[in-house]
Order: sequence, then C-alpha cells, then structure tokens
Amino acid sequence: MSSSPRHVLDVDDLDAAEVAEVLSRAGTARPTPALEGRGVALYFQKSSARTRHSTELAVVQLAGHPVTVLDHEVGIDTRESAEDLVRTLACYHAIVAARVFDHSVLERMAAVSPVPVVNLLSDRAHPLQALADLLTIAEVFGSCEGRTLAYVGDANNVANSLALGAGRTGVAFHIASPGGYGFDGEQLAGLQEAGAEVRSFEDPREAVNGADAVYTDVWTSMGQETEAAQRKHDFAGFTVTPELMDAAAPHAVFLHCLPARRGEEVAAAVIDGPRSRVWQQAANRMHAARGLFWWLVDPVADRMTAPNVKGERT
Ligand code: CP
Ligand code: NVA
Repeated sequence: MSSSPRHVLDVDDLDAAEVAEVLSRAGTARPTPALEGRGVALYFQKSSARTRHSTELAVVQLAGHPVTVLDHEVGIDTRESAEDLVRTLACYHAIVAARVFDHSVLERMAAVSPVPVVNLLSDRAHPLQALADLLTIAEVFGSCEGRTLAYVGDANNVANSLALGAGRTGVAFHIASPGGYGFDGEQLAGLQEAGAEVRSFEDPREAVNGADAVYTDVWTSMGQETEAAQRKHDFAGFTVTPELMDAAAPHAVFLHCLPARRGEEVAAAVIDGPRSRVWQQAANRMHAARGLFWWLVDPVADRMTAPNVKGERT
C-alpha cells in the first residue's frame, strides 16, 4: 500500500462515502482539536475573501494555527519552484492549501508533498466551494439525494467541481451555457466517468425546469479579465432573473459562490430576495473546510487509498 498522503485537488479525489463523511464532520459543531499544536499553510496567488477567512477560522476551530501566504511573499516559480515551496511548508504544516491560476501547479505540489495538498481554487476546480454548496443543499432540503441542481452560466471551475460533487451525492446536474462556454466533449466524458449525471442545455429555461436549486457564477473568472467585454456580450440572456426562478420548482432556492455582479449573471431581486441562500453558502464555507481538514488529519481513518476515476475504492 502506498504511504502517500491524500490530496484534494477536486471533489473526485473523494469517493461518495468520503464526501458524506466530510459533510457529516462539517455539520459537527464541536470537532476534536485535531490540529492542536500544528499549522496549516494557506497560499494565495489570487484575491479571496470567503476562502481565506473561512479556512483560517476552520483551522482555528480545530485548534491549529493558520499561516496565510501571499504570492508576492514567496514567488512560486520565480523565487523558488512550487515543489521546493511545498516541501518547505510541509516541514511546519500538517496541510498545505493553495489557490493558484494554473491547476498544474497544484498537481506538481501534490506529486512531491509529504502532507495533504488542498485546492483553494484553480482555473479547473473549486472543491471547497462545492462541498459547502452540497452542505447547503442538504440543510435546505434535508438531504442531497434525488435533487436537481441547475447551473446557468460558464462551465468554469465552480461548475466543474459542483458537477463532480453532485455525482458523489446523488444530485442531477443541469447546465445551460451559451455556445462555446459549456463543457466540451472531453470534459463531459470525464464527468460521466467520475459518476456525474450532467445534462447540457442552451436554453436556461429548459435547464431550470423543475430544478430544486438554481446556481450561477460570474461570467468572467479571475485570470480572464481581458475577455470580460466579449463575455458580457456572449452571456446576454443568461442572467438569473425572477422570471427564470419562476421556471424552476416552486420551492427552488438560488445559490451563488460569490463574489457576484448584480445585473450581470444575477438580478439583484434574486440574489437579495427570499429564495437566495447565498449567505448560508458563505457561512458553510467555514464548516466545509473544517470538515475536510479534520477528516484529512484524523489518524484513525484509512487515508491511503484514493478512489479510482469511478469513485470506487480498490
Ligand atoms: N467563493 C469564493 O471562493 O470566494 P473568494 O474568492 O472570496 O474566496
Ligand atoms: N469562477 C470564479 C469563482 C470565484 C470564487 C473565479 O474563478 O474567479
């Protein structure tokens, strides 16, 4: 058996039982002091409000010490390589978590790190966001199983991790994107291989029909700023409006990872209205991070065998 640590670069690094376990720990108000006397490094190449604060507080709640590291302080691949940085941080920390532009930086870190590496957002994935969103859906509806989540917008990092998380928790995932902004064939095949049930639409009304939750994210993600004007043009008609919410199930809630641009991907009347659960999601970022960090450092459980692409343990 390999003695490699478990890394969480996307939701499919956890199998369905592990996602359930992490969500259960996330819902536990009194965790054990699992990180007592230990550190967690939180490295950021991009801006963050929710992720930085929720992960710092999650570490404190586990009795550990968070150290936030901004890119200009360490200079990945300029001052020293990502590999040397993670080897150094692992001398002091039980977990190294990182927000990066290029997902391959996380893969390089995970390849050499003696401690778990956790993705705090990359161009490909945002697993801690998806875990918080699944926790929110479970809180709103009692459980995730059998629900339908309709995502309206760019098939980006958030959409990818949500689709994987939906697959792990029995949620059907619908996505409506303008032409050229949906998942491509390779991505859809990968999601299907990972057990995600994804249906793609071009018409947002069809995607949200009967959905329990309607989700959106910004049209221009961090790192895509030069495309903003083109994207604003291309995503016209994909705003989540009160009328679009009315096409979902009568009990449907609205979700958004934040930060939001009112008047672009979502109307103010929706995000600030009675169906919005965005602040519950933001609060759940801390609980989800705590659940994952606790699970990762818990010496009692077997953390040495990662699930295969179908989410099965071999
Ligand atoms: N949702 C999210 O990751 O927010 P931040 O970018 O502010 O961390
Ligand atoms: N898709 C967005 C999410 C921000 C939390 C981005 O990557 O900028």
